[in-house]
Amino acid sequence: MFKSAEEKPVDFLPRHVAIIMDGNGRWAKERGLPRTEGHRVGAESVQEVIEGAVELGIEYMTLYAFSSENWKRPEREINALMKLLIRFLKDKEKELLDQNIKLQAIGRLHRLSEKCLKQLHRTIEATSHCTGTTLILALSYGAREEIVDGIKSIVHHVQEGHIDPAMIDEDIVSKHLYTRYYPDPDILVRTSGEMRISNFLLWQISYSELIVVDKNWPDFRKEDLLLAVKEFGRRNRRYGGI
Ligand code: IPE
Ligand code: IPE
Ligand code: MG
Repeated sequence: MFKSAEEKPVDFLPRHVAIIMDGNGRWAKERGLPRTEGHRVGAESVQEVIEGAVELGIEYMTLYAFSSENWKRPEREINALMKLLIRFLKDKEKELLDQNIKLQAIGRLHRLSEKCLKQLHRTIEATSHCTGTTLILALSYGAREEIVDGIKSIVHHVQEGHIDPAMIDEDIVSKHLYTRYYPDPDILVRTSGEMRISNFLLWQISYSELIVVDKNWPDFRKEDLLLAVKEFGRRNRRYGGI
């Protein structure tokens, strides 16, 4: 357990933490285990960071769980990931409620299996009244797809006469993305030491602080989240100023 919120383990809390949870396959390979075992243990890390976010009092946490590009993976692996997701949502619903966590999801969710989508909507609905941390799962998510969908939505509103093209600005673009209800991430964490964005929140991370952690995702613990948050507190954000 971290110290209680009153004791403030850190001075500057990020409002929104986004995480690219990477390295499950490598974690398993290093142990001679099937990749799916890495995903299974990775789900325990998800539990860890959720608890960590709640204990720290982080308002929003977005977890990149499945990208649009991940549909290219072998069907067996995709099925195993979807099964894990369904089980996670089922098993954790009570804990999410107990911890006052509001679940949300972003991505082309209609591509998920019916069973998966049904469970996802059920858990989102069940936690919709929660007022603590908002946990956003990026599922079948790709930032370029999100931007394409946003452009289509803006064009539709223009055609309907609701938006004057001359008025289109950054705020309007942001309001047509999947993330319209959330502030931009303050921190973007990527595990497994990989130095790339992999089509995650391209618009929203324009001024996020990047933190790359060498551990594979299944080894990521609450303390690693705390380290990332502390590192954020040491960064000097200038937003182009001096
Ligand atoms: C992250 O781990 C989980 C998903 C992308 C679903 P990976 O499965 O990408 O593991 P590595 O990167 O191959 O080790
Ligand atoms: C990014 O990891 C996607 C998720 C963590 C869900 P990938 O493993 O898919 O990314 P690449 O292929 O290494 O760029
Ligand atoms: Mg990977």
